[in-house]
Amino acid sequence: MGLGVIDLPAFSLEGTVEEVFYKKGLPKVVILKTALGTVWIKLEKSLRRELVQLPKAGDRLRLAGTISDKYDGWVKQYKASYLEFLATAQASTAKSSQLCRVLMCQKSSCCHRGAKELWQELEAQRLPITLKATGCMGECKRGPAVVVLPHKKRLTHATAQQIRELVLATEAQGVEDNGN
Ligand code: FES
Repeated sequence: MGLGVIDLPAFSLEGTVEEVFYKKGLPKVVILKTALGTVWIKLEKSLRRELVQLPKAGDRLRLAGTISDKYDGWVKQYKASYLEFLATAQASTAKSSQLCRVLMCQKSSCCHRGAKELWQELEAQRLPITLKATGCMGECKRGPAVVVLPHKKRLTHATAQQIRELVLATEAQGVEDNGN
């Protein structure tokens, strides 16, 4: 009996993005709400790299790929090699971009501690935010130093994950910026 390649079952699903998890600035897992329920779909590495538009919550997508059994068949793992945008969440992006502003120190101490990379990562994630570079915030040894508005939340050793969580919470609550 010769060795053969096992064909994995294929899937093709349409739905609305509930959440996207990123790794190194690229989308790794998409949680998709479909007619059959909510499905976690991992994007193939090759697909992540070739995306010219990054998915975000509210987008409608078609994802296709293969399904494998993990943990003795307990878990079905969806792996996508194809992603198509059916509609993008323009309206919510425009609305929430007025809500969240991320002020980030771009002075040398913070840049030595990753402020430039953090900036690039946030840009790549295409979060509904306005990014603004600032001068020193007096947190030089604890950079990157960030303030997220409208929360006025100060972050030190800031990470993209922390900022993302604040932004998503703002989107969910519709927090209003009341100025100073
Ligand atoms: S250099 Fe960033 S807080 Fe001082």
